Amino acid sequence: QTEISRVRNLERIQMGDSEMEPWYFSPYPAEFSDCDIVFICEFCLLYFGSDTQFKRHRQKCTLLHPPGNEIYRDDNVSFFEIDGRRQRTWCRNLCLLSKLFLDHKTLYYDVDPFLFYCMTERTAQGHHLVGYFSKEKESAEGYNVACILTLPQYQRKGYGKLLIQFSYELSKIEGKLGSPEKPLSDLGLLGYRAYWQEVIVDALLGRENDNGGNSSSGNGSPMLSIEDLGQSLAMTTTDVLHTLQNLNMLRYTNKNHVIVLTDAAVQLRERQIEKEKVKGRRAIDPDRLIWKPPV
Ligand code: COA
Ligand code: NA
Repeated sequence: QTEISRVRNLERIQMGDSEMEPWYFSPYPAEFSDCDIVFICEFCLLYFGSDTQFKRHRQKCTLLHPPGNEIYRDDNVSFFEIDGRRQRTWCRNLCLLSKLFLDHKTLYYDVDPFLFYCMTERTAQGHHLVGYFSKEKESAEGYNVACILTLPQYQRKGYGKLLIQFSYELSKIEGKLGSPEKPLSDLGLLGYRAYWQEVIVDALLGRENDNGGNSSSGNGSPMLSIEDLGQSLAMTTTDVLHTLQNLNMLRYTNKNHVIVLTDAAVQLRERQIEKEKVKGRRAIDPDRLIWKPPV
């Protein structure tokens, strides 16, 4: 608590086609603080202080995707699962890189207890890293995400939502309810809130339609409980409750919670859907996820 967060140490980094300015301190070796640009190999994540060294490396580096099993592929993205214990160096380099954009204390050296789910975009040159989340192999608190990051050049394009959806698809297969590790960063909270609101309102609208009910807003869905929502979305009851509270969709009668799908919430969702149409809607297709919980 008394620790002062340390000053940003890298000036600029170059990775793939992008050049960017780090946001926070990350414990790269001290000599890299003196470099104008640090060159990061987008495939093996090794770092270099000079263009010459970096170019020499690129001629030798044979990696074309994150060093793990591809467990998901659709027309746009792939996911690779990487075991921190088996790919220590790569995962440490990933943690170093992501610390540049995370204000939290994170572990850089003890990657063994984590699995890393890395999302990539495919081109003829290879699988380009877009973002990832880490997940403890055994989480006593039931967390399904430890750290989550969309690389800055890919942010605000819907990839964060894909990462979050993917983490819940894994929890569904495990038959568990999941929640991200606390505390969340400001951006983390914005990303999760947006996802939670969306899936809950969609579930309520879907449920209304399934029941043949009037799908116009305003009429509650008393048949759908908070527990039902949690189970079907692999979300904890707490996260469902908080989301419904934020949306002002909870009423209390006889000490029971009643969910009310409000006009405001439906309109918010309709505006999102319009926005997604313009941007191009992205979603994970659960049928393409080939995965069993690691033993
Ligand atoms: N300002 C306001 N709302 C934001 C936001 C921002 N900077 N970033 C995300 N959101 C909200 C919006 O509602 C957004 O939907 P919209 O773009 O249609 O308005 C929604 O989240 C989904 O955004 P998306 O594009 O899917 O997220 P992303 O790819 O930008 O990734 C994070 C979100 C959190 C992963 C990303 O910001 C990040 O990597 N941050 C740095 C690392 C971090 O803090 N991680 C969390 C640690 S706990
Ligand atoms: Na974190």
